[in-house]
Amino acid sequence: MWKGRFSQPTSQLVQSYGESVSFDWRLYAQDIRGSIAHSKGLVKAGILTADEQAQIETGLLSLQSEIESGNFEWKESLEDVHMNIEAELTKRIGPTGAKLHTARSRNDQVATDVRLYTRDAVDAIIGLIHSLQRALIEAAERSGGAVVPGYTHLQRGQPVLFAHHLLAYVEMLSRDAARLSDARKRIDIMPLGSGALAGSTIILDREYVAQQLGFASVTQNSMDAVSDRDFAAEVLFAIALCGVHLSRLSEDVILWCSAEFGFVTLSDAHTTGSSLMPQKKNPDVAELTRGKSGRLVGNLMALLTLLKGLPMTYNRDMQEDKEPLFDSIDTIQAALAVFAEMIAGMEVNEARTRAATSDPMLLATDLADYLVNHGVPFRSAHEVIGKLVAYSLAEKVAFADIPLAKYQAFSPAFEADLFTCLNLETALAARQGIGAPSPQNVAAQIARWKEALS
Ligand code: ARG
Repeated sequence: MWKGRFSQPTSQLVQSYGESVSFDWRLYAQDIRGSIAHSKGLVKAGILTADEQAQIETGLLSLQSEIESGNFEWKESLEDVHMNIEAELTKRIGPTGAKLHTARSRNDQVATDVRLYTRDAVDAIIGLIHSLQRALIEAAERSGGAVVPGYTHLQRGQPVLFAHHLLAYVEMLSRDAARLSDARKRIDIMPLGSGALAGSTIILDREYVAQQLGFASVTQNSMDAVSDRDFAAEVLFAIALCGVHLSRLSEDVILWCSAEFGFVTLSDAHTTGSSLMPQKKNPDVAELTRGKSGRLVGNLMALLTLLKGLPMTYNRDMQEDKEPLFDSIDTIQAALAVFAEMIAGMEVNEARTRAATSDPMLLATDLADYLVNHGVPFRSAHEVIGKLVAYSLAEKVAFADIPLAKYQAFSPAFEADLFTCLNLETALAARQGIGAPSPQNVAAQIARWKEALS
């Protein structure tokens, strides 16, 4: 389709090195949609008659159904999805097909196709994020009053409702969805009509074409339009960060279902066995997701690195944008879907979470707060409780079993009511500030999320 000035055929190695149809074939629906819209623009510009446009449209739609039924033969010699479709169209409908590429280049064509594809993908990913959020909220509800230690440095810190821990991930995922919808605004701009880099002397009504494709607006600089892949980088970042969040959830799930923690049990359907050790039940879904998040970060790096230092405008390097983009889109969709299923089948083992939270040290901060409420400056209170912790560990006596007189030897501010703050329920209920895990707050958060996601 570009052989006019060439007298030698393309080397076989160059052909297979440069082809993209083996992966960009998946843009076929967007390519056809874009071509139909462009053909309508060509009618408005007086290049095609309505009849010619109808032939093009019918031809393209019949190609689409052949592709979808698996009867279309993609040819490596035709390089990419765009030339495969256009060549086949022209083969079938004759010279009218050869008019389709008027005032268009593969540079604005591919940029348009990828934007259409990414826009749909972003919508699908946001939908899957919402499904996982719903699964987490349901798991939070199912966990009822289960309390777990909250950790910092993977050391027991303070008690929290397990539901509060799960809702932390609902928050992360909502930011992921928000980042994708924000990126969507910059995807939703049509480059078609920018030509190779400098538009065309044939004037198309670009806004009309954009309407056909459901784009919110059209690009304003033809050079930027054909070389801009910011939208893809943004989406890859949003996906990578979502993957990083899933990798953290993965790690929590992996810890929770270990014998050491034993906080949750995953369903048989979402775990695997060992070919050697008959007792094993492995959290492979979580491990794979933790692993796959590496690919998502890598794909972002690949795209940023390929764009870095490119001169204006289109360069063939840009063909390398698709594989990382497709891979990240596929990977995050699969990860979100399988995670939603796995979380829906996850059960909390209350006996184990209760045992873990019976560690009296979890309430050391509450004791310090008690002293503060009795007029002791926090730093002094912290030191008093630190000494009590050392005493409790050395004497192997729990806070609840230390007599009042002993407490008063550490600080005269202690009174008999100190023992009420050594109760887990009281301790949780007292955490009433916005964002803190009192059961009342957590219930309100669950209600808020259910409403937001309904
Ligand atoms: N397959 C190419 C890509 O994905 C399409 C654009 C090719 N343009 C060109 N001038 N060779 O980037």
